[in-house]
Amino acid sequence: MSAPKGRLQGKNAIITGAAGGIGLETTILFAREGANILLADISEPALAKALAKVKEVVPTAGRLETIRCDVSKEADVQAMVESQDSWGGVDVIFNNAGIMHADDADAGVWFGCKHAVLSMRRNKKKTGSVINTASFVALMGAATPQLAYTASKGAVLAMTRELAIVHAREGFRFNSLCPGPLNTPLLQDWLGDDHAKRFRREVHFPSGRFGEAIEQAHAVVFLASDESSFVNGTDFVVDGGLSKAYVTAEGPAPAAPQNLAH
Ligand SMILES: NC(=O)c1ccc[n+]([C@@H]2O[C@H](COP(=O)([O-])OP(=O)(O)OC[C@H]3O[C@@H](n4cnc5c(N)ncnc54)[C@H](O)[C@@H]3O)[C@@H](O)[C@H]2O)c1
Repeated sequence: MSAPKGRLQGKNAIITGAAGGIGLETTILFAREGANILLADISEPALAKALAKVKEVVPTAGRLETIRCDVSKEADVQAMVESQDSWGGVDVIFNNAGIMHADDADAGVWFGCKHAVLSMRRNKKKTGSVINTASFVALMGAATPQLAYTASKGAVLAMTRELAIVHAREGFRFNSLCPGPLNTPLLQDWLGDDHAKRFRREVHFPSGRFGEAIEQAHAVVFLASDESSFVNGTDFVVDGGLSKAYVTAEGPAPAAPQNLAH
C-alpha cells in the first residue's frame, strides 16, 4: 500500500523568514505534509541551520532548497520566485518575513504577492494560495506604541483583501494571518526585561500565556491546503482570543513598581 498523501503533497511552496520562529515551524509542518519548499531568509547562516533542522526532524521531506532573499528588495524577491519556475512554478507563498523596526514598511509582502501571481500565471496554475503575515495589532492597536509596525500590518490586511477579490476568478486566494503575541525572539527580545512593557501585554491575555510559533504554523498549513479552498480575503486570527476580549487588569502585579500612565 502506498504511503498516505500529505495535505500539501506536491505543492511548490515558498516561505520567507523561514529561518525564524513562525517561518521555521511552518517549514517543518509543510515538509511533513509533502510540500516542496524553498526556504528564504535574509540570514544565510540561519538558513543553513534551519535546513539542517528540517532535514533532521522530517527525514521523509520532499524537495528542500534555500535562497538568501531580502524581501525589501524587489530584485531579490523576483529572483526567489522565478527560481521556482524550474520546479513547475509557485503554488503557495507564505510572505512571513518581518521585523519590529520603526522604518519597516513591509514592502516585501507586496513584492512577494506580485511575483507569486506572475509565476502562477506563467506556469498556468488553476489554483494558488498566498498567505501574508500581519498581526493582531492591525485589528486593535498595540499595548505600547509601535506606530510604523502597526500601520504597516494594517496595510497588509487591506492589500491582501484587495488582492483576494482581484484574483478570485483566477483561483488564486489571498489571506492574512494575524498572530497574537508569541514566544519567539522577535517579540521576546524586544520586550526584554522591561517589566512595564511585559505587564501591559500579559494582563490582556485571556489564555494567560504567549502563543507558540507552531500554533501559527498549523493555521498556515490549513490556509495553504485545498481544505481552505473557499477561504479568501480573511484576516485569519490566531491570537488565543486576545482581540475579542475585554480583560481587566487583575493579573499578577508587576515585579517592580511601574509607571503605567502612558
Ligand atoms: N512574534 C510575535 O509575537 C508576532 C506577533 C504578530 C505578528 N508577527 C509577525 O510574524 C512574522 C514572523 O515573526 P517571528 O516571530 O517568527 O519572527 P522571527 O524574528 O523569529 O523570524 C523572522 C525571520 O525573518 C527573517 N527576516 C527579517 N528580515 C528579513 C528580510 N528583509 N528578508 C528576509 N527575511 C527576513 C529573519 O532573519 C528571521 O529568520 C513577522 O512578520 C512578524 O511581524 C509576530
